[in-house]
Amino acid sequence: MPFIPPSSVAQLDKSPRRRFYTGRNLDRVQSIGDLRARTHRLMPRFVLEYLEGGAGEEATLAREREAFATWRVLPHTLRDESARSTACAILGRPAPLPLLVAPTGVNGIFMRGADSALALGATEAGVPFIQSTMSNEPMEEIAKVPGLRHWWQLYVFGPDEIWQTLVDRAAAAGCEALVLTTNAQIFGQREWDSRTRATRSRPSLRTIVNAARHPHWAATTLRGGLPRFENVIDFVPKEHRGFFDSAFWIREQMWKDIGWRDVARIRARWKGALFLKGVLHPEEAVRALDAGVDGIMLGSHGGRQADWAVAPLDVLPRVRDAVGDRAELYLSGGIRRGSDALKALALGADAVLTGRATLYGLCAHGGDGVTKAIDLLKKEMMNELGQYGAPTLDAISPDLLVRMGHFPHIPEFC
Ligand SMILES: Cc1cc2nc3c(=O)[nH]c(=O)nc-3n(C[C@H](O)[C@H](O)[C@H](O)COP(=O)(O)O)c2cc1C
Repeated sequence: MPFIPPSSVAQLDKSPRRRFYTGRNLDRVQSIGDLRARTHRLMPRFVLEYLEGGAGEEATLAREREAFATWRVLPHTLRDESARSTACAILGRPAPLPLLVAPTGVNGIFMRGADSALALGATEAGVPFIQSTMSNEPMEEIAKVPGLRHWWQLYVFGPDEIWQTLVDRAAAAGCEALVLTTNAQIFGQREWDSRTRATRSRPSLRTIVNAARHPHWAATTLRGGLPRFENVIDFVPKEHRGFFDSAFWIREQMWKDIGWRDVARIRARWKGALFLKGVLHPEEAVRALDAGVDGIMLGSHGGRQADWAVAPLDVLPRVRDAVGDRAELYLSGGIRRGSDALKALALGADAVLTGRATLYGLCAHGGDGVTKAIDLLKKEMMNELGQYGAPTLDAISPDLLVRMGHFPHIPEFC
């Protein structure tokens, strides 16, 4: 399906006609938008719905992008911008930019070896990679990537033995931090994703025909069959180990009554840094700190869980006020530009997570695309630091931003 570029004020009556670059030459890629456009060219529809789709009305998904448009920059000029830098610290260790690669499950549906490719790309860029419980490669294999800052994302489901085993394995594999996702115990109502299936575990005929028309994807992904949830599949009963069936089985076993008592038990077992991911409420952030958590990843799962939720950016200043400097505070959701990351930092985040932006790189160009996506975001941050007259991240503060009364639609990513 050809990618139709969005209109912009530079295109009155859709003229001049514009297209993102969707070719294979990475040197010609200008922005995450190009990586997304090539992703849309190469991936079958059911994969795109899994990647792009949100829950319900997709109101949260839209808000995650819109929220950035509520903030405008009031730049300074005549400042020394000759030495710009995005250098920072993530969890007390130096990092070249304030970014982490977010945990995403089922990466094997984009490309065989996708978890490794994301881990390698993150390592090359010097930033942490957070591996999902629903990833497709064993954590012990990913841990072998030299120099990797390996973090483990935990979903809690089934008997205690499962989370306990995963936590112990993460410790043995040398993971630096454990990230407990708190907002996905009940699976979001992702209707567009579901519409690609005829039954719970069977793709529709249209989906199969469409997938067959994507030979590049089939060649790079289906070699050896559909991916498996390698880190947890042994806990799944044998009769439910098919691709779709195992995913549904795991979803059904998620603890619907997970609570602070469980956070305390995880805290007691895991000796490294512990983060909660998916929190939005300032009161919960404060309670998390009282529970011995080291950091919060604000977010709404990329718009895939609660519909009509506020965007993490909307609540970021309040949460920062509430937790002060007692916690690392990261923002996850809607990051597509270096300027997005800088706005988040200005409003109180220490770093941002990228989910789809790095996945677009992966889908479009494999491992090199992951590196490219992170490079693009870094290059944009460096450029904007100069444009804003704030040469280093220390100079990024709330007074750089002005809140607008209304927010123009951002067509590019909504
Ligand atoms: C395809 C996909 C799979 C995801 N899987 C997980 C997951 O397994 N665990 C998790 O904590 N978050 C998961 N997320 C949420 C991301 O970690 C992250 O919060 C979100 O993608 C951020 O929004 P962005 O995609 O706009 O950057 C997933 C997101 C996407 C797009």
